[in-house]
Amino acid sequence: MRAFVAEKNDDGVTRGLREDFEDLGEGDVLVNVAWSSVNYKDGLATIAKGQVARISPLIPGIDLAGETESGEAVLAHGYDLGVAHHGGYAEAARVPSEWLVPLPDGLSARQAMAIGTAGYTAARCVMALEAVGLSPDAGPVLVTGASGGVGSTAVDILAARGYEVVASSGKDAAFLKGLGASEVISREEAAGDASRPMEKTRWAGAVDCVGGATLAGVVRSLRYGAAVAACGNTGGIKLEATVLPFILRGVSLLGVDSVQTPIEERRETWRRLADDLRPPHLEDAIAREVGLDELEGALDAILRGELQGRTIVRVAA
Ligand SMILES: NC(=O)c1ccc[n+]([C@@H]2O[C@H](COP(=O)([O-])OP(=O)(O)OC[C@H]3O[C@@H](n4cnc5c(N)ncnc54)[C@H](OP(=O)(O)O)[C@@H]3O)[C@@H](O)[C@H]2O)c1
Repeated sequence: MRAFVAEKNDDGVTRGLREDFEDLGEGDVLVNVAWSSVNYKDGLATIAKGQVARISPLIPGIDLAGETESGEAVLAHGYDLGVAHHGGYAEAARVPSEWLVPLPDGLSARQAMAIGTAGYTAARCVMALEAVGLSPDAGPVLVTGASGGVGSTAVDILAARGYEVVASSGKDAAFLKGLGASEVISREEAAGDASRPMEKTRWAGAVDCVGGATLAGVVRSLRYGAAVAACGNTGGIKLEATVLPFILRGVSLLGVDSVQTPIEERRETWRRLADDLRPPHLEDAIAREVGLDELEGALDAILRGELQGRTIVRVAA
């Protein structure tokens, strides 16, 4: 079968399309993969210093959508997929049935991968914020790393739910305004002044895809009782903060992980992604398409922080 494979060697990692790769790995269900997508973690899984790949050779691709041999439309992402178990960048994937999510009514396989791991994570961030009381009348909600896959889908979902969305981005504002952001601020403005323990309160809530100094700045600027959902680390893993925003303003830092969500919760989140959490600009604005033979350039681009929106991978010929 055709597969994009990353394999460790003495000089680093060799990556590329192979026409005759036969190893499918373990699992009780064979999925004929139609679509996959490009996530930051996929980029990391294909470079030596990424420290994501746990097997070699590895078919990366942390998400996939397609049909089982018995004709059921399914998707899968997270758990060990594309990390310690062959993932979505191949014409077929063998996976444990307990990882599979039935494709919800109203979503095609292509649309599901336009959402993908990134959109799923964006939805989990919105759900986490709403679970602690965020509502559209609360005030401005900041999304950092907004032009990326998680960020752009978070902007889209929040704007569609009636939130006033402020996007922070190092890129062009027009794309984010088109998704419904009311204002676009610079990365520097979101990160604020690191020398202060707290800053003027501004955000009623936030989705942070960047981590590092950006997340620290968001915590210092949350309004009284507000929360930030933290899901990413493109700007670094260190968080330098004081306890003051927590003990004087009662703010909350909510961690969001997409990998280990229990399967029933995951299936329910996907039902909502096809329904009330559906990002309205899925097809036209958010997704661009590449084939398996164009993957390498897209993986390098996401590692350089250059991709805008979601990049989906056409796997079936
Ligand atoms: N917790 C989970 O389960 C989970 C799931 C999915 C993704 N993630 C993480 O979430 C993050 C975003 O993933 P993604 O797939 O959306 O990646 P992405 O498409 O590359 O988006 C990341 C965005 O971060 C911003 N950025 C990049 N480098 C930066 C830097 N040095 N400093 C500040 N901002 C920078 C850029 O946005 P602007 O140019 O607009 O500023 C970029 O578009 C990644 O860290 C990923 O690992 C976590």
